[in-house]
Amino acid sequence: MYVGLDLGTSSLKAIIMEEEGKVVASASRSLDVSRPHAGWSEQNPHHWWRAVDEALISLSQSHPKEMSSVSAIGLSGQMHGLVALDEAHQVLRPAILWNDTRNAAEAAELDQTVPEFRSLGGNAVMAGFTAPKAVWLARHEPDIFKQTKYILLPKDYVRLCLSGDCASDMSDASGTLWMDVKARRWSEPLLAACELTEAQMPRLYEGTEVTGQLRDELVQRWGMTGPVFIAAGGGDNASAAVGLGVVKPGDGFVSLGTSGVVFTVTDDFAPAAAQGAHAFCHALPHQWHQMGVILAASDCVSWLSEITGQSATELAALAAAKDHNVTDLYFHPYLSGERTPHNDAGARGGFIGLRRGHDAGDMMLAVMQGVAFAMVDAMDVLTKAGASPEQLIATGGGANNHDWLRLIASLSAYPLIVPEQSDEGAALGAARLAALSTGRSVEDICQQPPIQTIIQPDEATHAALHQMRETSQHLFQAIRPLLGTR
Ligand code: XUL
Repeated sequence: MYVGLDLGTSSLKAIIMEEEGKVVASASRSLDVSRPHAGWSEQNPHHWWRAVDEALISLSQSHPKEMSSVSAIGLSGQMHGLVALDEAHQVLRPAILWNDTRNAAEAAELDQTVPEFRSLGGNAVMAGFTAPKAVWLARHEPDIFKQTKYILLPKDYVRLCLSGDCASDMSDASGTLWMDVKARRWSEPLLAACELTEAQMPRLYEGTEVTGQLRDELVQRWGMTGPVFIAAGGGDNASAAVGLGVVKPGDGFVSLGTSGVVFTVTDDFAPAAAQGAHAFCHALPHQWHQMGVILAASDCVSWLSEITGQSATELAALAAAKDHNVTDLYFHPYLSGERTPHNDAGARGGFIGLRRGHDAGDMMLAVMQGVAFAMVDAMDVLTKAGASPEQLIATGGGANNHDWLRLIASLSAYPLIVPEQSDEGAALGAARLAALSTGRSVEDICQQPPIQTIIQPDEATHAALHQMRETSQHLFQAIRPLLGTR
């Protein structure tokens, strides 16, 4: 048996996977985000650890037999977060998360003054990434920065609690921006640009390698037999890819989660920093991936739900009654700023074209269209950077809305594969990486999930949708300077 742990932003999920790759049990615990100031987003690392312990205690009670035969644990997690630790591995302040934009000024400054971030690291410095967070810390909390002996990513803090090791994997570590991503190692010049050294970084491993062993007291506490190995694992997107069988160059997925992601596997490092693509290592050896990230996808529907008092399903039903291929109402989804392609933490969203007759269904349709336009903007960036997947697997909560997927398929001309079940996502990828760390092969364990349906692009609507997307882009560029961003 293998355990996969996925430390998300809103919940921690733990699954048990048996030898054949079937998920036999799962448990989750919700996590709160604290937002003490506008643009800030923090979590207490001790809460992550409490959630892991509670979830594994609950699995040991509900599935004692399975837990007693666990041989390895794999880790996946929200990327880019900064956990600052002192000499004794004590947490110095709340973790600063991936969607925290307080460091926009430091990000822009590093991007302009240290060209090696793009040339060596292969990525534009964006506000969500870890490197500009460290510069913010040095400037705004210098006492804490001085005491910071180690910096860890969120899932790697969990690893420290599991086994006592300061270690990370290539895919998650790429998102710090301190790596020479092509050479798959830390980069001294990029660390030095943030007044850091390699001694403050965790040791790097491939996602399929073992980083240590579960502490004896935890083996006993969770009803395991031991030894239990800890696999390096991956960032949540690379892990989700492994869980979906996106493991060969040309494979790809689109995810409509809180954020929206377009992900393709490459057989070499393929940067396109100027267009805002992320070029990171995959969680599998000798592979890299490109990724376009929009910061609010399903989050826009959650927001509309909150302000209208209607659930996402109710809103989708109202929108389903409308013609999806026309609109006189435009929505820009930049509720949390934007990464791909705008790289602008100050970008803002909004409706344009409201009239008295519009109802919640029109607003939902505009949100679905606006997010679809933004997803296709991100897909275009990857296509220009050389990605050419034949088809993409659709995942994330928003993928249950097939009307939404139809818009994205018709706009992008990519067929979208809807798996029968993609709920386990990154936790399944983490469990698969655990299995790989014990010697199982990718061919054997990383299959694509059974297909529920394939959403084909509708050629008849492509031109009309494309026209709407162009109008939406023009409107955004027109209001952008007026809103004081750029
Ligand atoms: C990827 C990113 C998000 C987080 C969400 O670059 O920032 O997908 O990993 O957990």
